[in-house]
Amino acid sequence: MEMYDSLCSPLLDKCQSEKLNLLFYKLYNKIMSDVVSSFPFQIHSFEEYEKSYKASIEQPENFWASIASNFYWKKKWDKVQEWNFSEPKVEWFKGAKLNITENCIDRHLQKLGNQAAIIWEPNNPEEKTRVITYSQLHKSVCQFAQVLKNNGVTKGDRVCIYMGMVPELAFAVLACARIGAIHNVIFGGFSAQSITDRIEDSQATFIITCDGAYRGAKLIPLKNVIDEAIIENKKIKKVIVFERTQNPVSMLKERDVWWKDEMKFAEMQLENDVSISTNAEVMDAEDPLFILYTSGSTGKPKGVVHSCAGYMVWTTYTFVNVFQYKPGQIHFCTADIGWITGHSYIIYGPLAAGATSLLFEGIPTWPDAGRFWDIVDKHKVEILYTAPTAIRTLMGFGLDPLQGKDLSSLKILGTVGEPINEEAWHWYDENIGKKKCPIVDTWWQTETGGIMISNLAGITPAKPSWATLPMPGVQPILVDEKGKEVIEKNDLGMQKGNLCIKAAWPSIVRTTYGDHGRCRNNYFATYKNLYFTGDGAIKDENGFFRITGRVDDVLNVSGHRISTAEVENAINMYAGVVESAVVGYPNEIKGQGIYAFVIYNGNQKELEIIRTNILQTVTKIIGPIAKPDKIQLVSGLPKTRSGKIMRRILRKIAEGESENFGDITTLLDPAIVEEIKNGKI
Ligand code: WTA
Repeated sequence: MEMYDSLCSPLLDKCQSEKLNLLFYKLYNKIMSDVVSSFPFQIHSFEEYEKSYKASIEQPENFWASIASNFYWKKKWDKVQEWNFSEPKVEWFKGAKLNITENCIDRHLQKLGNQAAIIWEPNNPEEKTRVITYSQLHKSVCQFAQVLKNNGVTKGDRVCIYMGMVPELAFAVLACARIGAIHNVIFGGFSAQSITDRIEDSQATFIITCDGAYRGAKLIPLKNVIDEAIIENKKIKKVIVFERTQNPVSMLKERDVWWKDEMKFAEMQLENDVSISTNAEVMDAEDPLFILYTSGSTGKPKGVVHSCAGYMVWTTYTFVNVFQYKPGQIHFCTADIGWITGHSYIIYGPLAAGATSLLFEGIPTWPDAGRFWDIVDKHKVEILYTAPTAIRTLMGFGLDPLQGKDLSSLKILGTVGEPINEEAWHWYDENIGKKKCPIVDTWWQTETGGIMISNLAGITPAKPSWATLPMPGVQPILVDEKGKEVIEKNDLGMQKGNLCIKAAWPSIVRTTYGDHGRCRNNYFATYKNLYFTGDGAIKDENGFFRITGRVDDVLNVSGHRISTAEVENAINMYAGVVESAVVGYPNEIKGQGIYAFVIYNGNQKELEIIRTNILQTVTKIIGPIAKPDKIQLVSGLPKTRSGKIMRRILRKIAEGESENFGDITTLLDPAIVEEIKNGKI
């Protein structure tokens, strides 16, 4: 191995040909698969799964202590777990000291220094791929951590990251974790107003952004959006700007600095003082690692907080087991790092496991609908993890984009973010996996930090459109409206109810930033001593779970969580709108579409203009992902005498139901139902 390293490293550094370069890395990964032993905590059979599950419930302390012993700790824990759901207060690996980046990078350097940690595939296939080895990742992260320090960032500071999908985004995230700053990544599709809200809520004082981002044929001027977002913010100390697109940007003296210049300076410092690179901040197990905003049933997004140790252990454990990761494999998670899936399964989980994580800048349909398959073919991807929406979109293009693409490297397929319908599941299985690749349907949430219910690829059985069995340590339970466990089975032997989790697992949400009461009310107050997911589920006679969708006022559009209240607030900002009600309706591609019923009393313009203006308003206030698919102007909304909107009725109308609205006699004005129904678009 050493001989290989000394022989190949100089070659790899000098190699100009992209093809040759990639070939080298592939070869390297192949060798690694023989050299690096697999994970002691990997489950290899159904019996082992059952044994692990039992142990995790009966002896959680021993179970998790043994798994955690495979990580690098600066100080071991005093207590494995301590929690109560009433406050809630959850602590895992209490008293331990660590730095997650040492687990994701430093500890691999000796064996995997020359292995690709990140393979970056640019938006434009004509542009060169970048390969970042673990050694290079180490250098870049330490260097950027130094940049952060030079700019005054210290442990506990909140750093808002608004970048496109470039390797520097991963460096920025990891550099924050390296110095103990709390990163708050904001998806590039959010508007200036959304950023302002998130910056204010998290009291962020630093921003890392790009001049722009490429997404398909579009260029998104990220820095301009940031400028608009912080126009009135005097608390931002520095904005670090990475150049990606070279579109013109404004740079404010003293506040705005270029990534490139800062990195150059830090490089010099590192050359003069190598000890800088070993200075990973010593973090307490429960110190916050990051904040990620997500939509709940109220109008204001919540800053979900995860802490260092439990999150690290959970994302690694689930990555290795669900995807049955083998050393040397290339893992391609198509999510954006702006969402939890990108945090857990592009960055932290795979890197902590020493995997090669493929980071894709673009979108599945540009320059054509064969882009994913080109990437799989080019890099010989083994694990592909994507969203049902992407599968359904690509299905719509037929089989032509698959022509000539060699997908034989694929071993495992995964889905996440929304329920997958059987048709899409079978299409994925037949045309992408060629019926040889297990498909894992992974159910989890921003708040759970990592995968909670899923089959383990090739180890536990799959069932199309079922997430199936809980991970070790996860105790799901179905309850009725009153919180009573559902015992009764229907004729098919199934139970149906609201999905809750009985006990804490290592990466459960710790708090919602700045408002712990909100965390309690949202997740722990609906049902006593239970974590409430907000999802409905069915359980079959084998104990398999199928997630049926949200039971609260949260929509799932293309796998993105959107709160109806948030969209309503945005619509109501448009001049002339009196009131609005937003519901979801089935959409073949996106899973759910957004249907808005709007009472408009303003200037009578053409209907189309009003609609377009409302769409513009929503885009400005939240971002294009929250744009309603349908807007129907109505003269009133179905309300009870106490003024509560009966969404159940609106949902039925949006779904195309023309009867069976249930009891509408309690409505203030029952006639409005007929009127709305007749005006349906
Ligand atoms: C939904 C994404 C069915 C669910 C990781 C959940 C799913 C919400 C699945 C969380 C799945 C996620 N099957 N539904 N496999 N995975 N969901 O926070 O409604 O963006 O509550 O996390 O997505 O979305 P979030």
